[in-house]
Amino acid sequence: MRVTKIKEIIRETERIRTFVFEEKVDALPGQFVMVWIPDVDEKPLSLSKHKGDLTITVLAQGPFTNKMAELKVGDKVGIRGPFGRGFKIIGDNLLLVGGGVGVPPLAALADKAVEEGKNVTAIVGAITASELLFVDRLENIGARVLTCTDDGTAGKKGFTTDLLRDLLQKETFDSCYTCGPEIMMVKVLEQTKAKGIPTQVSMERYVKCGIGICGHCIVDGTGQRVCKEGPVFRDIEVEKITEFGKYRRDASGTKVYFRNR
Ligand SMILES: Cc1cc2nc3c(=O)[nH]c(=O)nc-3n(C[C@H](O)[C@H](O)[C@H](O)COP(=O)(O)OP(=O)(O)OC[C@H]3O[C@@H](n4cnc5c(N)ncnc54)[C@H](O)[C@@H]3O)c2cc1C
Ligand code: FES
Repeated sequence: MRVTKIKEIIRETERIRTFVFEEKVDALPGQFVMVWIPDVDEKPLSLSKHKGDLTITVLAQGPFTNKMAELKVGDKVGIRGPFGRGFKIIGDNLLLVGGGVGVPPLAALADKAVEEGKNVTAIVGAITASELLFVDRLENIGARVLTCTDDGTAGKKGFTTDLLRDLLQKETFDSCYTCGPEIMMVKVLEQTKAKGIPTQVSMERYVKCGIGICGHCIVDGTGQRVCKEGPVFRDIEVEKITEFGKYRRDASGTKVYFRNR
């Protein structure tokens, strides 16, 4: 654990902020850090840039992330990591599908892919226009960005998986990468499997130690630890994770079933 100072805070949306720290990182997109606020908690958060200043993008949705939203430039937090397995770039023509606060690790992946001369198409979805993340950032690095919102206030009205279905009728890709609500990722996998496109999924499970020791983030079916063998899993691994798309475990280990199934 080291103590790091906040260098910059960017207000991305009403509830989402990007924090830039006075610390350099060189990691794989998809990896995460454990952030500790004394007397509050320690939580896993994905890197939203894979190198340069350590950067994370956080949705305020509960006690810890609401506290993060109150932090100011110059405040200090504890950091461990980066940890976990990141995305592996496959082929030259990449498709990214991100929903809500699942977009930050995909933006980091887009940066790395473009640096390596790959073509990137990103489908970015959100509930409403003001919640769409990183559309300009992705366009500015030369990615093709297709947007959608549940309420139709920006891009196509509907879900990322509707846009994906339309796109895959016309085009194909060497590989696909997805992060966002698990129900969305289930549907992405169904579609990319039908088209034979290798796909990597970034999974969220309740992380405590972050380094593979406590066993809290183990998934049923494969016994893999999300913090160590994940959070990024390949499609052939996800097929064997029997809880994927069905349930996750809370802090006490109790199963919490996903809605809409
Ligand atoms: C590998 C990984 C990467 C993540 N990256 C991001 C990110 O880039 N940006 C972002 O905003 N959020 C990210 N999260 C989720 C983030 O950890 C939770 O939003 C945060 O822990 C919520 O804590 P809270 O006290 O604010 O809210 P709570 O009200 O306690 O919880 C809100 C939601 O977060 C989940 N959650 C709470 N604690 C944890 C925990 N220790 N581990 C996993 N999930 C938890 C809860 O199950 C609930 O669904 C990531 C989670 C994981 C596992
Ligand atoms: S959180 Fe402890 S093993 Fe993954």
